[in-house]
Order: sequence, then C-alpha cells, then structure tokens
Amino acid sequence: MTFIFAHRGSAGTHPENTMEAFLAAEMDGADGIELDVQLTADGEIVVIHDLTVDRTTNGSGFVNELTFNELSKLKANFHSLHFFKKSCRIPSLREVFEWLEGNHLLCNIELKNAVNPYRGMEEMVIELVHEFCLEKRVIISSFNHKSLVLSREIEPAITTAPLYNEVLYKPWDYAASLGACGIHPKLKSISDREIMDTMACGIAVRPYTVNKEKDMKRLFALNCSGLITDYPGKAYRLREQY
Ligand code: G3P
Ligand code: CA
Repeated sequence: MTFIFAHRGSAGTHPENTMEAFLAAEMDGADGIELDVQLTADGEIVVIHDLTVDRTTNGSGFVNELTFNELSKLKANFHSLHFFKKSCRIPSLREVFEWLEGNHLLCNIELKNAVNPYRGMEEMVIELVHEFCLEKRVIISSFNHKSLVLSREIEPAITTAPLYNEVLYKPWDYAASLGACGIHPKLKSISDREIMDTMACGIAVRPYTVNKEKDMKRLFALNCSGLITDYPGKAYRLREQY
C-alpha cells in the first residue's frame, strides 16, 4: 500500500504546519503527516517551513531570532479569512507529539537545516522522539544529508530519508551510503524504473509534492511506498480504486 503523508498537514486546505492542518490530515485519512522544524532563539523546536515568519504569519523576522513566546502570538495566514479568525498559530514539535500520542499517524520530520545548520538540532529532535517513544513512527528527512548521517549516529534505530530535487544516479546506493531506509525525491526527479529498482533494494520511496490525480494514480499503480501531498483527502479517495 502507498502510505499517504500530508505535506505540512493538509496544506492545500488549511494553514500549513499548524495543528489545524494536522488535525485535518487525520480527518482526511492520511497515514502520516510531514512537517518542517527549526529552532527558536530560546531553543524550542518549532514547526515552520521558511527561515522567516513573513510569508506564513502576520509577523516578520527570522525564526531563530524570535522566542517561542513571540512566535506563539503570531497568527498563521491562509487565503481564507475563516482560518485567520480562528487564530491558527505556529506549534512546537512537543505540541504535535502530544497530539500524536492520541492517534497512530506516522510523522515525517523535515529538519530545515540546509541553509541554517541549527547546531544540536538532531540531538534535540531525537531526544524528544525518545521522550514520546515515537521511534517507530518517525521518519527524519532533510536536504542536509550530513545531518541524516549524524542523526543515525545519535540513534541507529531512527529512520531517515534524504530529500533531493535533482536526478540522482542509483538512488538506492546513495541512500544506503547514508544509512537511510528511504528516499524523498521531488516527483520529477525519479522515474518509474528507479522507483521500482529502489524499492527492490528495500529502500522506501516517498516522492513529494504529489498533488495531481494522474501522478497519484501513477504512484498507486506502482505500489510506491508513499507519497507526500497537500491533498491527502483526494489521495485517500483515489487509493481506494487500487
Ligand atoms: O518533505 C517534502 C517537502 O516538504 C520538501 O520540500 O520545501 O516543501 O519543505 P519543502
Ligand atoms: Ca517540508
């Protein structure tokens, strides 16, 4: 079965990387959520995609220069006024983990440490994973592949998957060289043949961001390990045909 991961939660219909988007993902039938993490000025792990809060909230400034208290007061934007009124906000990873305790969803944590390396973030995230006993439900991904190697050194039992957006030669060999159990390629960066060959080597393939029906159908037909989508509800309904 192809596992459906809700990209930044159900980001096609809700403000990305908010509890509202994660709750919606569960309602939509997703098997897991994907989220992005960074560190605040006072060392909290927060769930937000961009290096600044400007695009996704009513505030401005760099995430790593604001405290968690300051970030918590911001309203998360969305194109619908309905959500603005609801005052969706930036959650901490702890808050998401507390919610995960009440369900069985998987959680793909993308470490947003390719530009700002956020020294010590791997240890902090893994410590929290241990605290909530989520080792078997978490996949750590990043465009910073050295960080994935470090994550495996800290916790050999953790599942990792490199993110990439160019064509990779023999992705299964590359994943193995990182100690990764999966790969998260941009959809256009991988062919059907490579998906099949990678999975045949025991490496999971979860392309992103798969929003079109025809692409979802292609991956379901291949029985691809997973897909990451802004529209998990649509994917869930389509998957029933396979
Ligand atoms: O994890 C897949 C995808 O989220 C990677 O790209 O920019 O959406 O974080 P981005
Ligand atoms: Ca991401």
